[in-house]
Amino acid sequence: MAKLEILTYPNPLLREVSKTVKTFTPDLKKLADDMLETMYDANGIGLAAPQVGQLIRMLVIDTRPRDPESSRYDDEGQTELEAKIKQPLILINPEIIKGEGKTTFDEGCLSVPSFFETVERFEKVEMKAFDVNGNELRFTVDGLLAIVIQHEMDHLEGTLFIDHISFTRSNKIKNTIKKSGYPTKEELAEKRAEKQKALSKA
Ligand code: CO
Repeated sequence: MAKLEILTYPNPLLREVSKTVKTFTPDLKKLADDMLETMYDANGIGLAAPQVGQLIRMLVIDTRPRDPESSRYDDEGQTELEAKIKQPLILINPEIIKGEGKTTFDEGCLSVPSFFETVERFEKVEMKAFDVNGNELRFTVDGLLAIVIQHEMDHLEGTLFIDHISFTRSNKIKNTIKKSGYPTKEELAEKRAEKQKALSKA
């Protein structure tokens, strides 16, 4: 396995429409494994192939809580439908057959690091996709897994979560990134420490 470079906004490859996978080769399996390694290393819960510069319709997801320190660990847990899906999940040529209901979540993205915004998605999705061996998958899911699937599928169309928020807010984020880039790890740690300080004072 190998760790891949994750492209960040405004890399133009993130704006391309990805191609349908036609043949299920060992190379495809290797890319899926590398994407999973890259995602876990970055502490992500989903990654789409275009985020590592491969313009094909494949995504990898693992929404199971891993880090007891993370806020997700305290979530009320998986829904019944989510628990039925074996993770990590590799989806190729995914399609939403039917979307139902509405839900919102504070989304982030490995390609737009350190920014979080509330985005509206379908609450439940009926899916069709293929696994890495070319077998057809059909399932219905809700909860965090349904949200992540929709977020990752957007990447296959060249869409980012910051395109789903108000024009003003979206522009503000895009301009901040273009002007000042992303905060460094040190700056983020500093920000977190300041927040902690403010909280302990409250
Ligand atoms: Co993303």
